[in-house]
Amino acid sequence: MNLAGKKILLGVTGSIAAYKTAHLTRLLIKSGAEVQIVMSTSAFDFITPLTLATLSKRPVLSQFKKDETGEWNNHVELGLWADLFLVAPLSANTLSKFALGICDNLLSAVYLSARCPVMVAPAMDLDMYQHPAVQSNLSQLASFGHHILHAESGELASGLSGQGRMMEPEHILEEVQNFFKISSDFKGKRILITMGPTQEALDPVRFISNHSSGKMGLALADAFVSRGAEVFVVSGPISLNVQKDKFHWNSVTSAAEMFEVSAKIHPEVDIAVFAAAVADYAPAEVADEKIKKDSSILSIKLKKNVDIAFELGKQKKINQIHIGFALETEREAEHAKAKLKKKNFDLIVLNSAKVAGAGFKVDTNQVDLFHASGETVQLALASKAKIAALILDQIKTIPVWV
Ligand code: CTP
Repeated sequence: MNLAGKKILLGVTGSIAAYKTAHLTRLLIKSGAEVQIVMSTSAFDFITPLTLATLSKRPVLSQFKKDETGEWNNHVELGLWADLFLVAPLSANTLSKFALGICDNLLSAVYLSARCPVMVAPAMDLDMYQHPAVQSNLSQLASFGHHILHAESGELASGLSGQGRMMEPEHILEEVQNFFKISSDFKGKRILITMGPTQEALDPVRFISNHSSGKMGLALADAFVSRGAEVFVVSGPISLNVQKDKFHWNSVTSAAEMFEVSAKIHPEVDIAVFAAAVADYAPAEVADEKIKKDSSILSIKLKKNVDIAFELGKQKKINQIHIGFALETEREAEHAKAKLKKKNFDLIVLNSAKVAGAGFKVDTNQVDLFHASGETVQLALASKAKIAALILDQIKTIPVWV
């Protein structure tokens, strides 16, 4: 794939593999990308800035301040400029800074400011690579949604042999090309996502709700954005750290509010994903004042809430795709398939409440997908980010997808 017009910020850190960055830079430039290199000063011991500046056709940056002109290098601007921040090689030291948010040089400041997707190619000796601290830092970066280009196996600079070699430049180029191919496959699509729980007021200080964290919905919203879509989120109350300006973000509290906001957005979208755990019932009456504990038994009358997916399913246009979720505790597949039909979904994602590592609060999930066409797909336990990416791949197989 031609990378013309793609802006790549290439971070280089102190590792013997930095010599391969010269070749990687050439490959990226030859593919048409614009490459701006940012080095940590310890990378200077392994490759000179002059070599990389010549190959990238741009001055290499490493300091906040350029000595000769006194000009300030704006790390925020650099982070905004790039379509992709690729760090190759990523040393164990810089990896730990990224995982913890430590900012003590231009490269780590650019990392914290970068708004674009991040891809890292770690390189270190095999024992270092296997160390739980390194593996946990890599998992941390993966949980941020970064792409990890895992080290390859082979002979290492120490003379030992094992996993730790930076991925070969040709393979990194393929990953970058693949990333740009995938990152635009939802371009031009408009998506509605309901997510999180709803809260149904009992009185001014109390409500009925559920344990939904919004993690799966947010992972989907992130996946759609990173693949080029415009995403309208309608979220119940959640306590996740969210970069809301990536989305058209709407915060709501009750099911009624979630329906009102979603119904306004729905006619304009190509795909609607109903990931919210909507409370099925709400108190029939909301007390104006705090309910006092006067009696030993208190009965609360509940009324059925609007079924958002069902109502909007009735309004679904021929070219719209609807995705639903189901969380079941028994006869899972049967119940999920019944909901698929009743709510006019094209695809339903079944979370089994019984699988360890799946469900509301955790970062992993295991789901089965049922298509309206009758096809069933089982996905293995994986991070919610990975599951979200696979769900997007499945959406592309739905017949009305164009
Ligand atoms: N849903 C919705 N509005 C509701 C209830 C559910 O939009 N009031 C959506 C959910 O977001 C999910 C799907 O419908 O995509 C199925 O939700 P679930 O709670 O499993 O189904 P219910 O129809 O509520 O069935 P039950 O709780 O009886 O299992």
